[in-house]
Amino acid sequence: MNNKEIVAQAIFDVVKDDLSLEQVQQLLENPKSADHGDVAFPAFSLAKVYRKAPQQIAADLAEKINGQNFEKIEVVGPYLNFFMSKGMISEQVLKEVMKQKSHFGDSTIGNHGKVPIDLSSPNIAKPISMGHLRSTVIGNSIGFILEKIGYEPIRINHLGDWGTQFGKLIVAYKKWGSEEAVKAQPISELLRLYVEFHEVAENEPELNDEARAWFKRLEEGDKEAISLWEWFRDESLQEFNKIYDMLGVSFDSLNGEAFYNDKMEEITDMLEEKHLLKENQGAEIVDLSAYDLNPALIRKSDGATLYITRDLAAALYRKRTYEFAKSLYVVGNEQSNHFKQLKAVLKEMGFDWSAEMHHVPFGLITQGGKKLSTRKGKIVLLEEVLNEAIELAKAQISEKNPDLENKEEVAKQVGVGAVIFHDLKNDRLNNFDFTLDEVVRFEGETGPYVQYTHARAMSLLEKADYKENPTANVCLNDETSWEVIKLIQKYPDTIMLAAEKYEPSVIAKHAIKLAQTFNKYYAQTKILVDDEQTEARLALVHAVAILLKEDLRLLGLQAPNKM
Ligand code: ARG
Repeated sequence: MNNKEIVAQAIFDVVKDDLSLEQVQQLLENPKSADHGDVAFPAFSLAKVYRKAPQQIAADLAEKINGQNFEKIEVVGPYLNFFMSKGMISEQVLKEVMKQKSHFGDSTIGNHGKVPIDLSSPNIAKPISMGHLRSTVIGNSIGFILEKIGYEPIRINHLGDWGTQFGKLIVAYKKWGSEEAVKAQPISELLRLYVEFHEVAENEPELNDEARAWFKRLEEGDKEAISLWEWFRDESLQEFNKIYDMLGVSFDSLNGEAFYNDKMEEITDMLEEKHLLKENQGAEIVDLSAYDLNPALIRKSDGATLYITRDLAAALYRKRTYEFAKSLYVVGNEQSNHFKQLKAVLKEMGFDWSAEMHHVPFGLITQGGKKLSTRKGKIVLLEEVLNEAIELAKAQISEKNPDLENKEEVAKQVGVGAVIFHDLKNDRLNNFDFTLDEVVRFEGETGPYVQYTHARAMSLLEKADYKENPTANVCLNDETSWEVIKLIQKYPDTIMLAAEKYEPSVIAKHAIKLAQTFNKYYAQTKILVDDEQTEARLALVHAVAILLKEDLRLLGLQAPNKM
């Protein structure tokens, strides 16, 4: 039970006849400062019922409430301030973590429900951008968080491996490309070709017709088109995998847009059958004016299908394949309308399960305040950012801890961790401006700071030769440890909140707070000194280490024991 629940129960036992437990809970407040206790109850709401002044009611309640869980209950005007019994709570919390270890905070709420998570989903023949990094790390973390509360995440990389851009690429490759150049540096060469296509097509618009024709051939299964496409895809995937390996992310499915090429006819047939398709200048659309949305363009006048057509097929495929509890799409905010349209079309088709599809949007990464665009070749290369971060971590380690074993490995964990954490620590909808210095910073509210605090706790335990003892007395009564205990106690609620909001930043903020609070405790307390509370203090250190590591895991970061 958290403190609010404990207090609510104690008050409820006295006011049973007049208020429900939920009503009491809802009235409880968090006092602004620690000298007003841990939980406060305003007695105003009972004034009508008891026909007494709130001050009097507060005083009466204080008399009657069973005080066993509290150090004291103070009456301040109409308020009852509850001071939790630190000894009792710390004992309870530390024993619980000792028992459950990294499973502390787990729940079964998800009931094994499957949750496909559409994440990363970069476009073939283009570099993975910082935007795709966001999708990758946010989606990956949401997977871990949902798993912790009992869901079964299915990570799907819905690769952008289909669409008119492949027509453009084939044209550009045949005109200006060569096999050797692509093999040597697949992504940058394919990107160069793509950029060149757009530059030239500005003056030679007929190139666009050629590109359309090639995409048509691709959709129809033309041998040459398919083999070029497959080659571009393989080369790109090899490059992407380097980055996924660095990030430590893996997928359960790589079914991208191309996978749905033969599954769209069923969709267009269904739409036709339900009389949802309307003709518009030769193209076919679904009217969504009832939803206050632009029409969804399903088929172009030349018969080519579109991004949304493939997403319709993918949504149905996921429903059939996974019987999902819910289905998530971790995709940038700028695609909000697309996902609204997608859900609206499915709803029109009579698929009520579309209500369980959720777009989990995130903000834009800008540079110098401007949007990054691949078209103009203006991109930040993720691989370079990661390598830069690893180099900086290496330099730091060589300076601070030159004798560290497996330096390379730790530098990777810290450097990559810095990049991931930087992305996850703010509300996902916030936009942020990309600066390398900021991303690879190791001090302040950063991943390396949390990792470092974890390693510090681990080395304390090692120094003390700590072995946990389930029968030890782990009561702690002091104010500094209390701040740490409260954060540990809050953990299950923190997990639930992060899961409900699909918000890894809730976990990142908890990790930072816990690390900061623990470091303060560490600075003010002689942890290893031998007295009757040594075991209790070490149990606290252990609990902190366990939770920091779990926080990092949920965010997709490693937690080295030494750094
Ligand atoms: N490939 C797309 C892009 O880079 C993202 C795909 C997102 N997923 C989806 N099911 N639409 O913009």
